[in-house]
Amino acid sequence: MLTRLHLKFLAPGLALLVILVFFLLLSDQHFRLPAAATASLCKGINGNPTSSSHETDTSPFPSSDREYTYIPNQAHFVYVLADPTSDFGLHFSHYLSIYAAWRHWKPEKIYLHTNAHASSIDRATNGTSGKWDNLIFNMPGLEVRHADVPTHANNGKAIQGLEHKSDFVRVEAVRELGGVYIDWDVHALRDVRVLRESGFRAVAGRQLGGQVNSGVFMSVAGGKLMTLWQTGMHERYTGGWTTHSNEVITKYAERLVAEPGEALIMEREAFAPGSWNGEDNDMLFAVHGDAPSNLANVTQGDALPAFDEGFADRWERPGEFPEWERDWSRSYLLHAFNPDRFGHKVKGFDHITPRYVLERRSNFARAVYPIARELYNEGLIEIDDSYLGV
Ligand SMILES: *[C@@H]1O[C@H](CO)[C@@H](O)[C@H](O)[C@H]1NC(C)=O
Ligand SMILES: *[C@@H]1O[C@H](CO)[C@@H](O)[C@H](O)[C@H]1NC(C)=O
Repeated sequence: MLTRLHLKFLAPGLALLVILVFFLLLSDQHFRLPAAATASLCKGINGNPTSSSHETDTSPFPSSDREYTYIPNQAHFVYVLADPTSDFGLHFSHYLSIYAAWRHWKPEKIYLHTNAHASSIDRATNGTSGKWDNLIFNMPGLEVRHADVPTHANNGKAIQGLEHKSDFVRVEAVRELGGVYIDWDVHALRDVRVLRESGFRAVAGRQLGGQVNSGVFMSVAGGKLMTLWQTGMHERYTGGWTTHSNEVITKYAERLVAEPGEALIMEREAFAPGSWNGEDNDMLFAVHGDAPSNLANVTQGDALPAFDEGFADRWERPGEFPEWERDWSRSYLLHAFNPDRFGHKVKGFDHITPRYVLERRSNFARAVYPIARELYNEGLIEIDDSYLGV
C-alpha cells in the first residue's frame, strides 16, 4: 500500500529517472547507424525516395551520405508493330525470355508496352493469333500498356525502323515507371534483386567493344541516367544504328559513375556475354554432335532430368563437362544476339524451338534449359511445338 511517505520519495526518484533516460537517448545519437543505413533497413522493396540531398552543402566533395533507393521490381518489354492492327506473332524464344524474367525475378508487374490496337491484343489474349502470343498475353502480372510511338525525334529527324522506335519507347517507359528493361532476345539466368537493391539508381552493362548496351538496363523512376538519355537520344538521333542508344547511354552512364549512387556499369559478362560476331553466334547456338541428345529416349510426357551443378563439380569432375560448354556463373542475363539478323549460318541451328533447347546440345540450350524444362513439366510446351507457335 502506498503511503504519503512512499510518494514523497518516489516522485523525485521518478523525475530523476526520466532525466537520466533523456540524456542517455541523446548521447545514443552518436552510436546510431548513419541515417541512410537505417532508412534503407526500414524500407520495403519499393521504398520511395525521400529527399536527402544536401542542397546547402558547399563542400567541393560530393557527399555519398544519401538515402538508398531501390529500383522497383517491375519488368518492361516493348513490342512495336509496324501495322498496329496486325497480329503479334511472337515466337517461342519470346516466351522463354518473358517467362524466365517472371520466374527468376518474381516481378510485381510485367509491362508490355505496345502500339497495338485492342483487336490485336484481343487475338493474342484469346489464342487466335498463335500459341506463344496466347501464353505471353496471359502471363501472371502482365499489364499491356499503350505506347505512343514517336514518328520524329525532337531534332526533326524521322525515326526509321521498328528497333529505333522501340529504343524511344523503352527509355520513356523506364524513366516514367522505374524497373528493369530487357530486349526479347535477353534471357534471365538468375535474379537481379541484389542489383536492384544495391543502392544504385541505375544499372547497365557493357557489351563487346566496351559500349554500354541498351538491351538491358534498370533504373528508379525519374532517374538521372534515364532523364539525360531520353533528352540526349532526341538530340542525337541520326538514324545510325547506335548513335541515339548505346552511344548516349554510354556517355552519360560513365559520367554519372562519379556521382554517388547514380550509375553502376557491370562488366560485359554480366548481361551481354556473347555478341553479334559470327564466332560468338557459333559459340552460343552451334549444335555439338558429340553431345548426346537429352531427348534421345524421351517421348512427350516423360520426365526430364534437372542437371543441377554443384559448386566445385567443374573442377572435381571435369570429364562430365565438354570442352565447348560455357560456365554462365558470371552472367545474370544472357543477351542472345540472334544470328539470323546478321545473316550468319550456325551449324545445326535454325530456330529456337522447344526441341532445340530440351536436347541440350548447345551453350544457349544449356543456359535456358532449366526454364524450358519447367515449361515442359508444367505442360505449357510440347517437344514438337514450332518456334512460330502455329
Ligand atoms: C478473339 O478476339 C478477336 C478480336 O477481338 C475476335 O474477333 C475473335 O472472335 C475472338 N475469338 C475468340 C475465340 O474468342
Ligand atoms: C537411350 O537408350 C539407349 C538404349 O537403351 C542407350 O544406349 C542410350 O544411352 C540412351 N541415351 C540416353 C541419352 O539416355
